[in-house]
Amino acid sequence: MSTSQLEKIVAWAKRRGFVFPSSEIYGGLGSCYDYGPYGVLLKNNIKEAWWKAMVFEREEIVGLDSAILLHPKTWEASGHLANFVDQLVECKNCHKRYRQDETTGSCPACGGKLTKPAAFNLLMKTYLGPVEDKAALVFLRPETCQGIYLNFKNVLATARKKLPFGIAQIGKAFRNEITPGNFIFRMREFEQMEMQFFVPPAEASQWFEFWVKERLNWYYQLGVKKSNLRFRRHKKEERPHYAKESGDIEYHTPFGWKEIEGIHNRGDWDLSRHAQFSGANLKYEGEYPFVIETSAGADRLMLTFILDAFEEVKGGRTTTTKATKEEEIVLHLHPCLAPIKVAVLPLVRKLQKPAQEVYQKIRKQFWAEYDEDGSIGRRYRRQDEIGTPFCVTIDFQTLEEKTVTIRDRDTMKQERVAIQQLSQVLSQKLG
Ligand code: GAP
Repeated sequence: MSTSQLEKIVAWAKRRGFVFPSSEIYGGLGSCYDYGPYGVLLKNNIKEAWWKAMVFEREEIVGLDSAILLHPKTWEASGHLANFVDQLVECKNCHKRYRQDETTGSCPACGGKLTKPAAFNLLMKTYLGPVEDKAALVFLRPETCQGIYLNFKNVLATARKKLPFGIAQIGKAFRNEITPGNFIFRMREFEQMEMQFFVPPAEASQWFEFWVKERLNWYYQLGVKKSNLRFRRHKKEERPHYAKESGDIEYHTPFGWKEIEGIHNRGDWDLSRHAQFSGANLKYEGEYPFVIETSAGADRLMLTFILDAFEEVKGGRTTTTKATKEEEIVLHLHPCLAPIKVAVLPLVRKLQKPAQEVYQKIRKQFWAEYDEDGSIGRRYRRQDEIGTPFCVTIDFQTLEEKTVTIRDRDTMKQERVAIQQLSQVLSQKLG
């Protein structure tokens, strides 16, 4: 897939109501995005699939929803005030700014000379209350996990868990990235899905390996192509300041192999530092548990699932579209991620009444859509483009036999089923 594919995806995402540039009527706002009607469904489905796999299906993991604003000492203790920096350089000629590691000594845009690198902290700042002074300064969290460490004892006391156990959370995070980009891959406001697994220190490495496997399997189960995924272990010098062992699940994007999820053995860094800075006792049975963290970005995963599912068929998949030489887009999303699960389509407008009856029945059970505009071929293509796994068509046989056809997005095969059986058959297919 080439970088021009990414441009196509950006255009498709806007055209089909997945992702809009934020504040577009004002000319946009640097790397902020809004999710449209289909986008919000897809993103919610990703978060739901993660929550199901990480919390619902695991007895040893519980959920949390902590505040975005935390006590400012949190970030002193976590090391973010001192260490969460990028080296910033500026072109002396065109004044564009870059991370030093993105340049090779001169300005990538105009070739001009660059300033000496200066440390730039990525924490976003705001003030709590009406007075904008140092005492009121707080930070928007750059990662969700710190709220988990601050609540370690609260959760331990209320959920009555024993080691090993985990706390999971989904929520917004903010980073004042110097150079955001590649659409929703690197943003300044984004959402993380993080799980912190507290383990006896002696078992930390073993649990680290366990979570690498579990997390890779999650992507495979959701249909991501194995050849597009890999786990890359960090060398010592690459590790974040808090990690004893770390690595990234990477995806083969049009702009290279890129991190989509970080897995870290954070040792006792966070609990011991928060204990030191707050004075609270954060030990469990006399010692600090070690933490194995899995940390994925919901927006970045949304781009990953789209990239992996996006197929462009030159000349079209069907004879009708081949004749018009149009290009077709098919989004082969896993059914559990697809924004719309079923579309109900009357073959011709005349069949509106029986089609509406079917639609009104099944829309209470599945995210469904009704469409009677344009030729049936065009309507199938509209649904293929947004990844709808099944189209239910009402035709003239419906009137005689009380049956409908179910069309499969990927194979385009149709099968006929009785209306009475429809909801059961769709439930089975959707899993
Ligand atoms: N708590 C550990 C942590 O935050 P990270 O590797 O800095 O680790 C984890 O971030 C994940 O969060 C990344 O793999 C990515 O999916 C997502 N992420 C980080 N920065 C992002 C950004 N600027 N835009 C979108 N997603 C981002």
